[in-house]
Amino acid sequence: MAGRIPQQFIDDLINRADIVDVVDSRVALKKRGKEHIACCPFHNEKSPSFTVSQSKQFYHCFGCGAHGTALGFIMEYERLDFVDAIEVLAAEYHIDVPREQGSFNPQQDDKKPLYEILEKASLNFANELKKTPRAVEYLKQRGLSGEIAKDFQMGYAPDSWDFTLGQPGLSKEDKTACLKSGLSIEKSPQKHYDRFRDRIMFPIRDRRGRTIGFGGRILDKGEPKYLNSPETPVFHKGEELYGLYEARQSVKDLKRIVIVEGYMDVVALAQHGIKYAVATLGTATSETQISKLSRIVPELIFCYDGDAAGKKAAWRALENSLSVLRDGIQARFLFLPDGEDPDTLVRQEGQQAFEQRLSNATPLSDFMLQHLSEDLDLSSADGCGRLSEKAKPLISKIEDGVFKDLLVNQLSKMIGLSSSSLQQHIPESKNKTQTPHYNNRAVSAKHQISMTPTRLAIALLLQHPSLAKECEIPEQLLSSDMPGLKLLIQIHKTILQTDAISPSVLVERWRDTIDAPVINKLMQLDIPEAKKDTQLASLKDAFKNLLQKHKDERLQELLNKSRTSELSSDEKSELSQLYQS
Ligand code: UTP
Ligand code: MN
Repeated sequence: MAGRIPQQFIDDLINRADIVDVVDSRVALKKRGKEHIACCPFHNEKSPSFTVSQSKQFYHCFGCGAHGTALGFIMEYERLDFVDAIEVLAAEYHIDVPREQGSFNPQQDDKKPLYEILEKASLNFANELKKTPRAVEYLKQRGLSGEIAKDFQMGYAPDSWDFTLGQPGLSKEDKTACLKSGLSIEKSPQKHYDRFRDRIMFPIRDRRGRTIGFGGRILDKGEPKYLNSPETPVFHKGEELYGLYEARQSVKDLKRIVIVEGYMDVVALAQHGIKYAVATLGTATSETQISKLSRIVPELIFCYDGDAAGKKAAWRALENSLSVLRDGIQARFLFLPDGEDPDTLVRQEGQQAFEQRLSNATPLSDFMLQHLSEDLDLSSADGCGRLSEKAKPLISKIEDGVFKDLLVNQLSKMIGLSSSSLQQHIPESKNKTQTPHYNNRAVSAKHQISMTPTRLAIALLLQHPSLAKECEIPEQLLSSDMPGLKLLIQIHKTILQTDAISPSVLVERWRDTIDAPVINKLMQLDIPEAKKDTQLASLKDAFKNLLQKHKDERLQELLNKSRTSELSSDEKSELSQLYQS
């Protein structure tokens, strides 16, 4: 395994790179005022909402919320992981990437054996399929060709308790990885056995094509019909979609994606030329999944059974779509005839007829209003009132824009009220709040963040790291457990300890940590270009506010304590000091 890349090299490289060059060589930028703009490469749009700030060395799209550093841009745009993106960036500046010997990045180290063992297993299963006529026969009888099986790297897990663990040449590390990846199950410390036995195997691949888990279908009758990998460090069911990698591989310019319920539906549709279907992994379609898809294509079609369970699942998908949808993204719903699923239907009627159904799918707005008005009498004022009451909370989840206006319009027609009077009753979506000095405009509804002194201080330090040298964190705060303070202190400390520090170096240092989301949001905050003194004064102010808050809390704490027990002499003197300050 290659050694770790020295942190100093990464910092230097990030400092050296200019985000404007990095982006511009991939997506032509136009200069507008201080910023550079373009049509966003991460979602479909006609007028540019993608901006690159040279001073912050950060990009941000107002339309879809995509954002990050130059390095982050390369990762997103070229679908690379961190290390590969470093290699690409270094190559652009004609620099070789040095490697340290003997020490590894612990996080990467953790996952790498899992990816490796899963890939090996996938190849072994695929190999086993070729050797098992019964399994091949099963797939044939379900209408699948060898070619499709190969595209999806389908396989067969033999009817054995130790196929995976019994592979020749497995190290102790590999065996641990088998357990961790969910391929095998630990019965007792010495007894391990295979999770998947006598099943058709569907490898689930992430966006980079790495196998991260499996679904396995029993060949004959048996329970459970489908078995899935458990959650592991590399496999998160609520985030991944079966078939997404394959769809992106086979369709160059994906325009739409169909979301179906089963593995078999995905492969059967692909078999019939509909190579843009994905399936959730036995769970409801989550907001994360929908958001992911909406960044890839402008049109999503949710496909469900026409029965009550299907309607219910569709409704959940609708609820999870609302806050994700924005102008330019269309979501529709296709309900299939009773007793059919995409697999059976496409086999009966073929590609064209199925695509016809897709084209006729119900728009989200129709499905929503139809569903809400079931059991309501819209010829009565009461019924209309109830419909509008039911629709309001849903509509208010949608980001302001044309789509929302159209929906309000449609609702107003149904209940016979002018859309302007209806609009008054619908709370605005939450992207309008502004803090007095720091403009939150740049942060759209779902990326919005409320301002606190801690966040303001973090934002100032992130965007203007040199301030740290001129402003110490008050001593008393160092031991405080106020929310966010720990991060503030860490950032302050990192800045002081790092020679050449810049906003993007900080962002990259916190990549993949639990604080990364808040750091990214604070980078997007629009801090007006002001004199350094003004910024320093704001930072000092923020520290002062924090200190006051800390003192108030401590005072309250001591007072509360004094009511139930005797304070120590130290506490007493602290209390009197707090009173005086
Ligand atoms: P279905 O039961 O609808 O099966 O499960 P299907 O897709 O029509 O499968 P075939 O055609 O009989 O082969 C749909 C999805 O629900 C999850 C799987 O993700 C499956 O693809 N599921 C189903 C499970 O996780 N476990 C099960 O036991 C059954
Ligand atoms: Mn089926």
